[in-house]
Order: sequence, then structure tokens, then C-alpha cells
Amino acid sequence: DWTMNAYKDDAIAKIRKQVGDGKVICGLSGGVDSSVTAVLIHEAIGDQLTCVFVDHGFMRSGEADQVVTLFREHYHIPLVHVDASETFIGAIEGEIDPETKRKTIGRLFIEVFEQEAKKIGGADFLAQGTLYPDVIESVSFTGGPSVTIKSHHNVGGLPERMNMQLVEPLRELFKDEVRDLGRELGLPDSFVGRHPFPGPGLAIRIPGQPITHEKLDILRKADAIYLEEIRNAGLYDAIWQAFAVLLPVRTVGVMGDGRTYDYACALRAVTSTDGMTADFYAFPPELLGRIANRIINEVNGINRVTYDFTSKPPGTIEWE
Ligand code: XMP
Repeated sequence: DWTMNAYKDDAIAKIRKQVGDGKVICGLSGGVDSSVTAVLIHEAIGDQLTCVFVDHGFMRSGEADQVVTLFREHYHIPLVHVDASETFIGAIEGEIDPETKRKTIGRLFIEVFEQEAKKIGGADFLAQGTLYPDVIESVSFTGGPSVTIKSHHNVGGLPERMNMQLVEPLRELFKDEVRDLGRELGLPDSFVGRHPFPGPGLAIRIPGQPITHEKLDILRKADAIYLEEIRNAGLYDAIWQAFAVLLPVRTVGVMGDGRTYDYACALRAVTSTDGMTADFYAFPPELLGRIANRIINEVNGINRVTYDFTSKPPGTIEWE
């Protein structure tokens, strides 16, 4: 559309002006925002850009491979793939406080970008897919809202020692505008239509308990079944975001002649236009029943499934 086309040209001109002949590192998460950021900046400055995909170990099933393939093979944008999962998991081991987890993960991202910048002989800029709602809902070092709801990992500025400036070309945009911009840049619909996924990933979907490899695996399996069923039912595009949350409680069940004592999980699905407010999604009960059955039968470690009927406000979309 005309407006987004003009916005794109304007954004490209601004990026060129800001960056000059400097070098830019862009952190990719696999989500729409960081991908649109990368493709936009690549269009503006070509190989002055280095994209870095940091696998923090909190990705969903198959996600890391998808991102790497998409960028290298589809967009032909060179991509550095850093597997930092043991570092990230080690750093939040035993931690249950949501803000501490978010801040630790945010700090580690920056450290990885710093290391990668060194490898290419230094970078002048760090590019991030920060959106307008991230800015509003997060606190920033330069003064933001008086109450922090959540520290989004990519908001808050860079440590002073870093000598890098931020490039955030989506900072004024809402999600639906980012999707339009993505289409304008030629990204496939299947990609721009992807549900949002938070930077800290599954680490903020295992609330109130220490995060372990085992729990991450259980959650990945439940989440994959849930999304597969939503896609099969043709509901993926009607929903803003859907995901499973692994609860810190085990409950008693019965399987065959035996007693089980396993984790409960919660399913969340919401509709929204910008992520700032949201309504819980009203699935047909039969579909919820089928999803619950599949998760309980197919995922070792879960024997109970609940559905989250909370809207935002008063809830938030993610549980942490
Ligand atoms: P909440 O949970 O605050 O989430 O209602 C609003 C939207 O933002 C996503 N979200 C994040 N995205 N980094 C991101 O890139 C983050 O740290 C982060 N935290 C939440 C969330 O998934 C929802 O779409």
C-alpha cells in the first residue's frame, strides 16, 4: 500500500543517514519484528549489516533451524548462528523471579552481540526490532513510564561502555504496521502472519519454578501439539497469539490402572490488534477437549490441562 511504501523509503533514507558507512549488528530472534528490521536495514545498507541469531535455548520446537534456513536460503542474507543455550540456561538456573530472568537474559543478549561485534572488527550500531508498544510498556534508562510492567529484553538502552548506538527503525510502529511493512519488503504472508514470540522465549513460560532442560522439553512438546491443532482447525490467523505455559504444580491423575503425579499446563490464546489490550479466545469446547487429550496422552510429564480465560487488562498476555 502507498502509505507503507512511502514509510519504507523514508525509513531506508533515515537508516542510511544514521549509519553512514558504519557497521551494524542486528540481533535476530526469528520473530517478525527482528526479521523485518534485518531485511529493511539490509535493503538500506547491504553488507554493512551482520545478522546474528542467538539461540538462547528457550526457542520452540524446530525454531532455531527455521530461522537459519529462512535467512540464509530464502533471503540470502548472511547470518551468524550462535548457540549460547548453555550460557543462558546456566545464568538463570534456579531463578524464579520474572524480572530477574528478563534482565539476565537481556544482559546476556548484549554480551553475545558484543562478542560478535569484536569478531567482525567492531560494530558501530546495534539494530533491534523494538516496537512502539514495547517502548510504552517497558521502562527506559532515559525515562519512561513510572511503573514497569515488564522489562522487555530489547528496551532500555545499551550499557555506556559499549560505544554502540541503537538503530530501531520500527520504534514508532504497531505490530499490524510492521506486518504491512514486511509485506512491502516482500516477506511471505506465512511469515509476516506469525504469532508474536517474546525475546526471553520459553524462559517466561515456566513460571514460579526453576527452569530445567526437562521442563523446557515438556513445554515444547505441549506447545507444538497446541499450535498444530490450532493450524489444523484453521484458526491460526484468527488468533493474535497462542501458547502453552508449564505450571509449577503437579497433580494426581489416573492412566489405565495406574496413578500419575505429573505437571499441569495452561493453554493461552488471545485476540488483539496491538498487544496492549487483549481478549481471551473462545475456542469451541470440543477442540479444547481434543487438544487436552492429545497433550495428556502424548506428552510425558503432563497429566492435566487448563485453559486461561484472562483478558488484558487485568492480565498480561504472557504470564511473566
Ligand atoms: P504482555 O505479556 O506484556 O505482552 O501482555 C505483550 C506482547 O509482547 C510480547 N512480549 C515480548 N516481546 N520481548 C518481546 O520481543 C519481550 O521481552 C516481550 N515480553 C512480552 C508478548 O508475547 C505479547 O505479544
